[in-house]
Amino acid sequence: MNDSSSSTPSSTPRAQRLPSLSQPFKALVLGSTGTLGSAFVQALQDCEGCSQVVTVSRTSHAGFALESEESIAQAAAEEKSKGPYSIIVDATGALTIDGKGPEKRLTALNAAQLARAFEINAIGRALILKHFIELLPRQGRCLFAVLSARVGSLSDNKLGGWYGYRASKAAGNMLLQTAAVESHRTRPDAVFVAMQPGTVPSKLSAPFQSGHTTVSATDAVAGLLKAINELEARPQAWFIDYQGGLIDW
Ligand SMILES: NC(=O)c1ccc[n+]([C@@H]2O[C@H](COP(=O)([O-])OP(=O)(O)OC[C@H]3O[C@@H](n4cnc5c(N)ncnc54)[C@H](OP(=O)(O)O)[C@@H]3O)[C@@H](O)[C@H]2O)c1
Repeated sequence: MNDSSSSTPSSTPRAQRLPSLSQPFKALVLGSTGTLGSAFVQALQDCEGCSQVVTVSRTSHAGFALESEESIAQAAAEEKSKGPYSIIVDATGALTIDGKGPEKRLTALNAAQLARAFEINAIGRALILKHFIELLPRQGRCLFAVLSARVGSLSDNKLGGWYGYRASKAAGNMLLQTAAVESHRTRPDAVFVAMQPGTVPSKLSAPFQSGHTTVSATDAVAGLLKAINELEARPQAWFIDYQGGLIDW
């Protein structure tokens, strides 16, 4: 294990709380180098009762890539002994891929670009679920929270465009939902949740922010932690925004 992949919360005042989890608890964040991922790491380090935050990214784990099941399985195996983790956050994802931004119209679609969006935002997510669910506790309340996007909502799609990103986020949501149904049989107290953070200034959103009201990563993550703390375990996933509102799938 690389030292940079694990950190123990500092003694600074604890700004966050996740009182629904039994205390103390451990956390694991995938995509911890991203804007939202690093904000989750910081918030969890600042969280009352959180004894350790383990991070997984292309920086902390050499060879880790959403495109490689082997690397995902290896990262899960490496971090298993430090668990179980009462909260796992998957903050990975991409919008501009291989230098290509989202498609605005049907004529812009090409198979390779669509496949890459699915590879990262849906298949990568599924493989993370496959290998990291086992790092949740077998008994007791726990949270598996993933960064989705409102544009992945079928019913919310009034603007069109962004074909590959929208469709791959919707597919990622379905994979999460299906994993939630299955996992409820063995982990009835586990909560699965897809999260919409708002428009957060980041490498991912920078080219597309104009005209949108933005929210800082710190505020988005504080709102999401507060919202997911209140969710009940059920044999389905939830889809929520950072203000605690429910989003239709
Ligand atoms: N920012 C927003 O306004 C917004 C809005 C709605 C939803 N979201 C969602 O929130 C999540 C995080 O977004 P963000 O704004 O924090 O973006 P970001 O700063 O670009 O972070 C993305 C994270 O995903 C990782 N990643 C991307 N492709 C990968 C790959 N092939 N293999 C392994 N890791 C990979 C990145 O790793 P590296 O650091 O190594 O590149 C980084 O840790 C995404 O799922 C995004 O769709 C964001």
